[in-house]
Amino acid sequence: MIDYKNEILRLKKEKNAVILAHYYQEDDIQDIADFLGDSLNLSQTAKDTDADIIVFCGVHFMAETAKVLSPQKKVLLPVMNAGCAMANTINAADLQKYKSEHPDTKIVTYVNTTAEIKALSDCICTSTNGLKIISHYLEQGDKILYTPDQNLGKYAMKILNKQFEVWNGCCPIHHYLDKNKVLEQKRLHPDALIVAHPECQLDILEISDYVGSTAQLLSFVSKSDAQEFIVCTEKGVLHPMQVKNPNKKFYIGSPTLNCHDMKKTRLEDVYDCLLNETNEIFVDESVRVNAVKSLDTMLELSK
Ligand code: 13P
Ligand code: SF4
Repeated sequence: MIDYKNEILRLKKEKNAVILAHYYQEDDIQDIADFLGDSLNLSQTAKDTDADIIVFCGVHFMAETAKVLSPQKKVLLPVMNAGCAMANTINAADLQKYKSEHPDTKIVTYVNTTAEIKALSDCICTSTNGLKIISHYLEQGDKILYTPDQNLGKYAMKILNKQFEVWNGCCPIHHYLDKNKVLEQKRLHPDALIVAHPECQLDILEISDYVGSTAQLLSFVSKSDAQEFIVCTEKGVLHPMQVKNPNKKFYIGSPTLNCHDMKKTRLEDVYDCLLNETNEIFVDESVRVNAVKSLDTMLELSK
């Protein structure tokens, strides 16, 4: 029997590796991570780390983003087919066609996309900095297309009281969250505040007490005086919420808030890829040089 936890710790030291994990990973993966965060924190950490190897416990676009920002480092994704359904809702040929028909429109793209899509975009954003980045371009008087998440796009239009074009992609896990399920939780826990990720549809966001990225939701529930929360995002985030707030109570908005791709990573996958240095992520240099520009623009604008 291999003691995966201890072996991973040993290999990490031996190889000067760092383990990054997203809040949606399984609890035991979150517990062995050196850095746990949302898409924005993890991109910044991947860029700044002096480790030689990054093991990215998340989905493919996250590891690919780390490679784009840190091309000299070896980036490993423990489960190669851990994808993101939202990233599949846009393809390069369609975006290229839109760009040639709308040459003056700035393309602002959500980080949950392939490097190829990022390379075709002017700026990337995440759920943490989306409103800030979209309003930056609107204040400059630019026409924008926001891709691919229609829900974050519609939410930004509502909050900023501005109109712009949005792609019609979405995250099925957040998009199909049933409002009745959330209201059922509210009936069971009437004192609980509802907190939601902006990838949910507006009907959910409208009944929420707070809307934000995974990191913002975590910070909100930790600072709030409320003792109970109904959480409308992927259920993995309940783990750090509970660890940071052992006396508060957290309920998932619906049992359907479960991203199967995020849940594919197991300790043995982390161990195997670190031991054998397999599942390395590569990004074509001609794509990377353009993708890094749009990511650097985001990191600059979100300072
Ligand atoms: P965050 O940017 O809030 O971490 O969200 C990433 C994600 O995949 C949401 O579904
Ligand atoms: Fe992609 Fe949705 Fe899973 Fe986030 S929860 S990784 S957007 S499929």
